[in-house]
Amino acid sequence: MSTQTLSVTEAIRTRRTVRHYRPDPLDPALLDELLDLAVQAPSAWNMQDRSIVVVTSEAGRTALSEAAFGQPQPLEAPAVLVFVADPGAWTGTNADIVEQATRNGAWNEQFLAKFDSRADYHSMRERGLLRENAVKNAMIAATYVMLAATGLGLDSAPMNGWDEALVKQAIGIDADAEPAIAVLVAVGYGTGTPPHPGRRPRERAVFTERYLS
Ligand SMILES: Cc1cc2nc3c(=O)[nH]c(=O)nc-3n(C[C@H](O)[C@H](O)[C@H](O)COP(=O)(O)O)c2cc1C
Repeated sequence: MSTQTLSVTEAIRTRRTVRHYRPDPLDPALLDELLDLAVQAPSAWNMQDRSIVVVTSEAGRTALSEAAFGQPQPLEAPAVLVFVADPGAWTGTNADIVEQATRNGAWNEQFLAKFDSRADYHSMRERGLLRENAVKNAMIAATYVMLAATGLGLDSAPMNGWDEALVKQAIGIDADAEPAIAVLVAVGYGTGTPPHPGRRPRERAVFTERYLS
């Protein structure tokens, strides 16, 4: 890939939510690289219980803009990535995950046995936390995408303002099916970079040993 890339630290410092885009299509090689980086995101137990639906068609992006209460980003940006969290992924055999980790020598017997038992997931189910767990994993992948996009010279916009039933409908998930929508990320070439809206001083967000409200 010949594109000039930014370091992770540069990407973190320069990424902005960009809400208006030029109509230029995404370079397919860049999109490919972006998606390759997205699936490198970690997930609890390496369950990879999240997926990304890439929507580039005008019809698909129009449906997503409508689902997002008319927000312009899905209409203007050439691609919208819909992050889907699958709270039921752990119930499958997931033999491919085990096979790869074993082949790579990444998991010891103890980790493998714990994965096999799915004890953590049974516990999360009892505590009603399966959806939250899968959404966390999907959000980490979305964060990877936003930073990778900046690193590759692309702009992005995360979106949480949408009607879940309509987003599901737009990407072909039945309304009552288990997969949940975590977040949408529009990706493309912005019309400009908005100013940094600022952050509170670090002392308001970072504490030592004890949380201070
Ligand atoms: C999970 C999440 C959901 C967001 N949803 C929306 C949204 O629906 N519409 C929107 O215009 N911006 C949305 N934003 C963008 C935030 O407003 C923006 O990140 C924040 O103002 C800080 O600006 P920055 O991203 O440029 O640092 C969202 C951001 C996050 C992290």
